[in-house]
Amino acid sequence: MTNSETITHDVIIVGAGLAGSWAAMVAAQQGVNDIGVLSKIHPLRSHSGAAQGGIAAALNNVRPVPDTGPRGPLEPIPSGDQLVDSWELHMFDTIKGSDWLGDQDAIEVMVREAPDIIYEYEHLGCVFSRLPDGRIAQRRFGGHSSPRANYSKDYTGHVLLHTIHEQALRHGVKFYSEWYCMDLIIEDNICRGIVAMEILTGKLFTMRAKAVMFGTGGYGRAFKITSNAYANTGDGVAIAYNAGIPLMDMEFVQFHPTGLYRHGILMSEACRGEGGYLTNKAGDRFMENYAPDKMELAPRDLVSRSEQTEIDQGRGVGTDGQGIYLDLRHLGRDKILNRLPQVRELAIDFVGVDPIEDPIPIQPTAHYSMGGIPTDVDGRVLVDDLGTPVTGFYAAGECACVSVHGANRLGTNSLLEASLFGKRAGRAIAEFVLDGADLLPISGDPIAKNQERIQRFWDNPGTESIEVISQELKTNMTDNCGIFRDEERLLVARSKIAELNQRFANGQVSDRSHRFNTDLLMAIETENLLCFSEVIVDGALERTESRGAHSRTDYPKRDDEEWLKHTLAHRLEDGSPELSYKPVDIDWDKYPPQERKY
Ligand code: FUM
Repeated sequence: MTNSETITHDVIIVGAGLAGSWAAMVAAQQGVNDIGVLSKIHPLRSHSGAAQGGIAAALNNVRPVPDTGPRGPLEPIPSGDQLVDSWELHMFDTIKGSDWLGDQDAIEVMVREAPDIIYEYEHLGCVFSRLPDGRIAQRRFGGHSSPRANYSKDYTGHVLLHTIHEQALRHGVKFYSEWYCMDLIIEDNICRGIVAMEILTGKLFTMRAKAVMFGTGGYGRAFKITSNAYANTGDGVAIAYNAGIPLMDMEFVQFHPTGLYRHGILMSEACRGEGGYLTNKAGDRFMENYAPDKMELAPRDLVSRSEQTEIDQGRGVGTDGQGIYLDLRHLGRDKILNRLPQVRELAIDFVGVDPIEDPIPIQPTAHYSMGGIPTDVDGRVLVDDLGTPVTGFYAAGECACVSVHGANRLGTNSLLEASLFGKRAGRAIAEFVLDGADLLPISGDPIAKNQERIQRFWDNPGTESIEVISQELKTNMTDNCGIFRDEERLLVARSKIAELNQRFANGQVSDRSHRFNTDLLMAIETENLLCFSEVIVDGALERTESRGAHSRTDYPKRDDEEWLKHTLAHRLEDGSPELSYKPVDIDWDKYPPQERKY
């Protein structure tokens, strides 16, 4: 530290979830010994810890019992027996899941390296669930043709995060807990640091570094019903965009089929992986009508659309008919207690339903952002359509778009992506720093600009409640840019955002104190939500096709002729997005686009 207003590190990582913690741990292992990690919440409350059901890798530990059908029981694969799974199958499932929008070179990197990262977790002491012979237990997940979700009951993200966080601490990484990143400092296409607020004191700091990485997570909080933590306001995505980085494929937002009714809290897909049913008001397993082969284990986009169709056609459950039942009763008490204890606890605590006795009311919930900050496979952030990197700036995990998930992510591929691309970013950062990267000067006063942003709130007496603006934005996004979209609703969404932006200029922050001013933080977060929601809506409006999670009722078909391409949104001077497009990486011989059926 140099003085009270400027802090320096070799590397600054924003976000302490799996991507950020892996990067910090690996960079430290490689010999970088001055690393600071900022987190707006306690690092162990990072949202990676909320992922429940598993992390994907083709380990070949279990297989379906022969002749019991696609939903029959699983058994350990005896050593020496023929293997059922492979990275190639994992690759195909991921490409198909992505509706051919995932970049195949990046997907190959991810699925090939997946088994190694699971063993690395194991060697670091991660407490996976086990088979009787001690190998890591695996279960089924939607859209995967083999049982390759490696899990720890339904606490998988939690145990992975604890494992890596303690390793980062062991390697001397310094954590800034409850520090909020406000701005990114890039000059001449070189990243030189960030501006951050210590939430406890409200004081702003310039934090200089040779390399900066964002692992700031997703933006589910732009929607009314979401599985995402309150912290998931997409700050990193908005900060990068405002600093001149384009955003990629933002219109692709995943709705998880099983959020707890009216709360959105995740009821893991592992419930269906273990054999749970989805039923409508009549008690029918309606997935038979939408995905007769995969049933409840079709990919998330398809299951969520099926649920929404049941709801829209009057076959939903609950007081407002907006729910569906997730029925686990036939799994039996032991399986529920042993494999799904967290799901049970959450259902009891939040809606008073014990899944051993009764079906759980659920509904689709905004869960995951497929889009984000464009990067290469080593986490380097790309500033234009040609793939030019910003020197010294990296991103990984949900805030990034590498793009391995394309138009729809398969469950369990997110913990894998965050871990693996966090690790690769950590390695690339270490190489960059140890090769002699300099701590470059910063011109001007980056704090002044951010202080002004805050002062604007203080100076403006304001009459609009920012809380109300934030709620209206979420309702708007869910109602008009949700599971099903069309031009009419998207135009409503766009003009509502314009209206909310105007009202925001007259927003009121009544708390003028410096210490732990959550009123001020909410205002900044809401400004961020407004900023990239416009990008989501514009991307969705322009993309006149249906692909993966982007479902246009007025353009119900995928259109490869016109739309087999990534969207890039660039921020114009007046703050509005300008869209351009870039090609998808496809191996036309091995994995050419096909019709996507389940
Ligand atoms: O359903 C789940 O357990 C969530 C996992 C994921 O999003 O990958």
